[in-house]
Amino acid sequence: MRPNIYVTRSLPQPALDKMKEAGFDFDVFPEDRVIPHDIFLKEVENRDGILCILTDTINKDVFDKAREAKIFANYAVGYNNIDIEEASKRGIAITNTPGVLTDATADLAWALLFASARRIAESDLFLREGKFEGWGPQLLMGQEITGKTLGIIGLGRIGRAFAQRAAAFRMKIQYFSNSRNEEFEKSYPYETKFVNLDKLLSTSDFVSLHVPLKPETTHLIGERELKLMQPHAILINTARGPIVDEAALVKALSEKWIWSAGLDVFEKEPKVHPDLIKLPNTVLLPHLGSATIETRTKMGLIAVQNLVEFFDGKSPTNLVNTNFLKNK
Ligand code: GLV
Ligand code: GLV
Repeated sequence: MRPNIYVTRSLPQPALDKMKEAGFDFDVFPEDRVIPHDIFLKEVENRDGILCILTDTINKDVFDKAREAKIFANYAVGYNNIDIEEASKRGIAITNTPGVLTDATADLAWALLFASARRIAESDLFLREGKFEGWGPQLLMGQEITGKTLGIIGLGRIGRAFAQRAAAFRMKIQYFSNSRNEEFEKSYPYETKFVNLDKLLSTSDFVSLHVPLKPETTHLIGERELKLMQPHAILINTARGPIVDEAALVKALSEKWIWSAGLDVFEKEPKVHPDLIKLPNTVLLPHLGSATIETRTKMGLIAVQNLVEFFDGKSPTNLVNTNFLKNK
């Protein structure tokens, strides 16, 4: 019997072609929007596997309905949308798509850093609104980037890729991570320091977040942490919204505890705090970290590859809950 898979959102065509080549029977949610949860709950019944995206909440209710499903292949590197513990308890495999989106996400973090430091979005709007009346010595001045101190929170794959790019700007790096990475320190041509969070926040010119969302990282950056940052500092978040206490960030930006913020992710996505939208010292993007044609295609191919391996009776390359195997 051909495995029957439900795909919760249309993916780049090569991924769907690969589903066909793999011989899967599958249906794709036909509308280009997040699948409503009630429809999702109906569609997962009698499926052998689910290819889901990061906006799908995969919890007990879903597992209760998806009684036949043995694998959920998440089209994302992050998997905070999935109750992993519950999946493991039930012997359900969870996979993700790491690696292929590292460069695209690191690039976007840099795009946000540039845009925030040089006030790109604000300046573009200024011009479009007809306010440009000639060059001015003090017109829309930003922050210099070259030679500054970059604070990186989380030195995983994306954090490291983000860090490597800083060498082009002769930046000093300080990082806070689960463990020291001497290999990285040796490979980076300028000064690097492994520091604690408070030191990083109080002495960096730019702070970029690259940790996964977990209970321990939820509101990692709140009022106390924002107050430690320097008034000219800029916060970049391409990781997950709830890592930052958005209400505290609004306060920090309005009261100028920090200079600006570049955000690709939000605490209650797709809702964005209304005050963030009103503030000129923010650059706000609709969760585009991995959004290049190349990367989104590769993510699709990898998600499908994980399904293929699983239904071939192998352990999928990107199995997240390795303890699932122990239960088998
Ligand atoms: C995107 O945010 C991802 O986790 O892949
Ligand atoms: C994700 O790919 C990470 O480990 O940073």
